[in-house]
Amino acid sequence: MRYFIGNWKMFGVPKSINILNKINSFISKDKNRNKYRAIFTPPYTLLESYCKQFKNKNIKIGSQNCYQKDHFSSNTAAISSYMIRSVGSEYTLVGHSDNRGEGDNDQMLKDKVKFALKNNLKVIFCIGENKIHKRKKQTFKILKKQLVSVLDSKLNKRNIIIAYEPIWSIGTGKIPNNKDLFNTIIFIKKTLAKIFKKNGPAVIYGGSVDKNSVQMFKQIREIDGFLIGGASKSYKKFIDIIKNYYR
Ligand code: PGA
Repeated sequence: MRYFIGNWKMFGVPKSINILNKINSFISKDKNRNKYRAIFTPPYTLLESYCKQFKNKNIKIGSQNCYQKDHFSSNTAAISSYMIRSVGSEYTLVGHSDNRGEGDNDQMLKDKVKFALKNNLKVIFCIGENKIHKRKKQTFKILKKQLVSVLDSKLNKRNIIIAYEPIWSIGTGKIPNNKDLFNTIIFIKKTLAKIFKKNGPAVIYGGSVDKNSVQMFKQIREIDGFLIGGASKSYKKFIDIIKNYYR
């Protein structure tokens, strides 16, 4: 199974549903549709209505984040996994570099993953090195720390997807070279195999994925899918990524 996950970030109003309607109808006619899953993470404001609209359709809906406490609490503007699940959402991102940059630390991320899984959300857990780590050749060290400090063998790996997103690649048009990316994905998969004591969760790639870069990424068969930011706001760009992947 491959994943094409669109992360809208701070984008979208109710009528933006037209974008997803077009993608949904493309998928319903696509001969490859059984080989992949399309998931979108709109902002919280659209979560409930989009979950209703796409119930039993070809697009799954998730949130972009969740709070590190269960159920209800007295934290202004916080939204828990329990609340996200209650409106029909099936997934949540955890640990996107935007949120790590705003203060999410490993302990908070561990709690977010724990409560998301407890509330029957599937977790898309994001990891990635920044350009200083890369320059200092600390990529593997950083990725390992991000994985081992949050994940453990008791978690259900079937409900977890790991999104490897080099921070220097997000929204920049810069992408890793083929060899580095292959080695990094293999390193992540080996680290996950140790944590989960056998095969670990699926591993997808994110960072400047578009219809051109996907031609290179698809050569690495170990990549189980993509987390797509900028190109997920246009139905045409998103569909072109799927088309080029299976071409
Ligand atoms: P991008 O964003 O595709 O615009 O680089 C990816 C992400 O932040 O998930």
